[in-house]
Amino acid sequence: MTAPILPIADPSARAEAARLLRAGGLVAFPTETVYGLGADATDETAVARIFEAKGRPRFNPLISHLPDTAMAFRMGVATEAARGLADAFWPGPLTLVLTRVQNCPIAWLTTAGLDSVALRVPGSDDARALLAEVGRPVAAPSANRSGRVSPTTAAHVAEELGDRIDLILDGGPCSVGVESTVIDLSHDAPRLLRPGGVPREAIEAVTGPIAAATAADPITAPGMLASHYAPSARLRLDARDRRDGEVFLDFGATRLDADADLSRSGDLVEAAAALFATLRALDQPRITAIAVAPIPDHGLGTAIRDRLARAAAPREGAHDG
Ligand code: TXA
Ligand code: MG
Repeated sequence: MTAPILPIADPSARAEAARLLRAGGLVAFPTETVYGLGADATDETAVARIFEAKGRPRFNPLISHLPDTAMAFRMGVATEAARGLADAFWPGPLTLVLTRVQNCPIAWLTTAGLDSVALRVPGSDDARALLAEVGRPVAAPSANRSGRVSPTTAAHVAEELGDRIDLILDGGPCSVGVESTVIDLSHDAPRLLRPGGVPREAIEAVTGPIAAATAADPITAPGMLASHYAPSARLRLDARDRRDGEVFLDFGATRLDADADLSRSGDLVEAAAALFATLRALDQPRITAIAVAPIPDHGLGTAIRDRLARAAAPREGAHDG
């Protein structure tokens, strides 16, 4: 079964796409930068399916797309710099990483467990019309399989993902052709995380000088910009027993006395959907050690293991949590 391709300019196609997205489906859609692989950003399971379809061996935080600035600032904290950049470049190829607002509906898997959210109001009118109809933030990385180039036509998307998704919306070739510029405003000073459609000089004309986030940057201590979340408890992976002082995080109901289970039926999509929310729930002062049951190293299991291994790795004091 290969996904139908419908024109995004057609209101009935957008209505169908919005219906699929609201039901937890995967819909590829054009933006002015590249085609995105969209899912309801508030639905952990729908977002897990994005990673499954892309075959990504890791959970990277994803961009949430919004129809307008007002809705974006209901998800992330609107600092003065954020308002300035939004006024200047939204709608357009700019993504702002902002601190999550309290009770932000965006799923933890969308942000890979981070307290920040990446937000974008795309320049394409049809894309914004679709987003308005969905009425929820839509998570969308580029609509290619992991390790391949980003697609700029519906035909590229069909080749990459046609057999793994529900619908492809066609808006012709993308006008920008490279991904959005990503600026982090969730820390003290603005930082350029990814160069893209809006040139750095144009951004600096609004914000003043911004630093690029590189490993060589002395201000950028490892972990400061870490795009990963780790609970403060120690993690022990591939655990088959519970040791003194540990809580047990199960997979596939291997233990009757487990404290939490990523998926009782051993389903990797369900486990991916539960991962960050569960780690957050277990991130409490009274919990100092977590034993995690074995998780198979294939499909989404590889990404789950990668995240757990990073969370288990020794690290220095502060981290982005
Ligand atoms: O042009 C684009 O931005 C395309 C189209 C479809 O909109 N989307 C796209 O999404 O490229 P994605 O998810 O592949 O790009 C996410 C980028 C990554 O570089 C990621 O590390 C960064 O944004 N990012 C997302 N959330 C973040 C966060 N909370 N903190 C830091 N970086 C974040
Ligand atoms: Mg990409």
